[in-house]
Amino acid sequence: MNIVRLYEVDSTNKYAKTNLNDLPDKSVITAEKQTAGRGRFNRKWADLGEGNVFMSFILKPSLEFSENYANLTQYLCVTLCKVLETYNLNPQIKWPNDVLIDGKKIAGILSESVVQGGVFKGLVLGIGVNLNSNLNDIMQIKDKEVTALNIELNQEHVDKDEFVENLTEEFFNRYEDFLKTGFVMIKDDYLNKSCFLNKEISVQVFNDKKSGMVKEVNDLGELVLENSGKELVLTMGDIL
Ligand code: BTN
Repeated sequence: MNIVRLYEVDSTNKYAKTNLNDLPDKSVITAEKQTAGRGRFNRKWADLGEGNVFMSFILKPSLEFSENYANLTQYLCVTLCKVLETYNLNPQIKWPNDVLIDGKKIAGILSESVVQGGVFKGLVLGIGVNLNSNLNDIMQIKDKEVTALNIELNQEHVDKDEFVENLTEEFFNRYEDFLKTGFVMIKDDYLNKSCFLNKEISVQVFNDKKSGMVKEVNDLGELVLENSGKELVLTMGDIL
């Protein structure tokens, strides 16, 4: 596996997209500092300092986009939960791919497709994990409740290299199987960790808000809501 370790970069996802043609499939980009990290819906991803994880996987599974690639964020989400469980934590998933501890967000995942001249070139799957932070810095993030692994473990420091190694190994362990099988391969694990099932919720989808009772997450990883006897199937959005 090819690992590119950067000290400082604007965004590991941006670096991976820019250098996708020159780097082999399954390359991993990590950075100590990220000056312009991006999240879903073009939000900012805060840099909580050098002890935190900023990494991106470069994936070139085929010459054409396949349906299962859209669920890689959910696969990484389940993978991350497995790694967090080795620290005796009980992570939960908020559809589609937020990982929470006690309702507080500990990680974010962003997948981007790279298309050049109308041709699919690959995917960049980025993940930020709050691994080592302090309550002061965490409190600066005002738009949501956030936590970090060291805070949850009541520890001063969590070993970042070990964490990144475990996450990468666990990810590639079942990656090829996931490409073939898709969301159904992880559906049970995903549902067992989900914190939004059977609840009345609202989902922000760009400028629109959809509300309803969560009926299920279907075999494609989509969220199915029921409202006044009607089914709404959502492929993206943010549970509010
Ligand atoms: C989200 O929850 O909105 C997704 C956040 C994804 C952040 C990671 S950090 C590493 C990679 N580089 C980026 O610019 N974003 C992702």
